[in-house]
Amino acid sequence: MVHFYIYSVDRLGKPEIIVDTLSVSMVKVGIVGASGYAGGELLRILSIHPRVEVTVATSREFKGKPVSYVHVNLRRYYPNLKFTDVSIDELTSRCDLVFINTPPSISQKITPKLLESGLKVVDLSPDFRLKNPEDYEKWYGFQHEALDLLQKSVYGLPELHREELRRAELIACPGCNATASILALTPLVESKIVDLEHVVVDVKVGSSEAGRKPNLGSHHPERANVMRPYSVEGHRHVAEIIQELNHLSRDKVDVIFVPHAVGAVRGALASCHTWLTSQDVDNNALRRIYARRYSGEPFIRIVGEGLFKYPDPINVVGSNYADVKAVLYEKKAVISFCAIDNLVKGAAGQAVQCMNIMLGFDEKMGLESPPLRPV
Ligand SMILES: NC(=O)c1ccc[n+]([C@@H]2O[C@H](COP(=O)([O-])OP(=O)(O)OC[C@H]3O[C@@H](n4cnc5c(N)ncnc54)[C@H](OP(=O)(O)O)[C@@H]3O)[C@@H](O)[C@H]2O)c1
Repeated sequence: MVHFYIYSVDRLGKPEIIVDTLSVSMVKVGIVGASGYAGGELLRILSIHPRVEVTVATSREFKGKPVSYVHVNLRRYYPNLKFTDVSIDELTSRCDLVFINTPPSISQKITPKLLESGLKVVDLSPDFRLKNPEDYEKWYGFQHEALDLLQKSVYGLPELHREELRRAELIACPGCNATASILALTPLVESKIVDLEHVVVDVKVGSSEAGRKPNLGSHHPERANVMRPYSVEGHRHVAEIIQELNHLSRDKVDVIFVPHAVGAVRGALASCHTWLTSQDVDNNALRRIYARRYSGEPFIRIVGEGLFKYPDPINVVGSNYADVKAVLYEKKAVISFCAIDNLVKGAAGQAVQCMNIMLGFDEKMGLESPPLRPV
């Protein structure tokens, strides 16, 4: 692997590395859990990424089959890529960077070995998102075996952690519900115009959030057309939402978070209810707060007036955009919204955005295709 460094000179005249482009040619990428929905979206996005070559794609169930056997939309894109078993030796010998898309508790066993071999890791599973080790037992029911890495991992939300991502070796991408909720609330939390101890978040999410493996609740006749609250007593994603909002505000933030499964396949919509602490806020002030906070963000769109004047996931399907908006409710509360495609800005697209930042590429590389409409 050939490292390429771009240097600048600091205030004292000392050279410092600002970008390690990792390789002058293509970055070799492995995808662990490539047969699932997040893995399929990574393969789709990376198929046209100009600086990446996918060299390893794992699936135990589909080992030996071409990746297009499962991801039929990718016929012709990877004529020579077949699923293989998960092998640390193969990953370390054939990859510079690995994406991990496995269910909880798998990555914490694989990732330390990949990092020790000098690879970079972008983890889409929850294994390195939470900084407090006890949260893993509480929310995920397993004892974490790589505690030292919890403090080293960077939470993969570029809008909050862009500078840390540039220096990261291990990126822990957020959950899709958490991405939508945090992006809807960030300008309100930072500007401290709402009561941070009473935040109510309601998320509607499509069926692909639950992954490819079917169960009784996700089987089509049971799942189609539902409007079903779930994990009402406490959903895992609330832990990372509170962690990140606490970090932003430096005060105690408390959140009630209730997700609802809806009949769509893709999409997540966060509707966040907050109570104003200041009487001097009107809709123009809210618009300015959001516009200022997200100015220059390549994937945040602030929804204006017109026929479709609130964020709706149907308008971002297939893209890495997050559509946001906040409106006043009778001068006493603010309702803020964020709509994303759970598999793109909520998973694979955000992971590629993070990878681009980590490798010093243009953040938008491979991610500029517009949303589909109608879907
Ligand atoms: N779906 C979403 O909207 C979304 C959004 C953000 C984050 N995520 C997170 O991303 C991860 C993947 O989600 P998904 O929806 O893509 O799940 P999925 O469709 O169920 O895919 C899971 C993948 O992991 C592999 N896998 C399962 N157990 C494994 C093991 N023990 N060792 C190695 N590989 C294993 C599976 O392949 P084999 O069993 O064939 O090996 C499959 O390729 C999860 O942690 C999820 O929480 C998902």
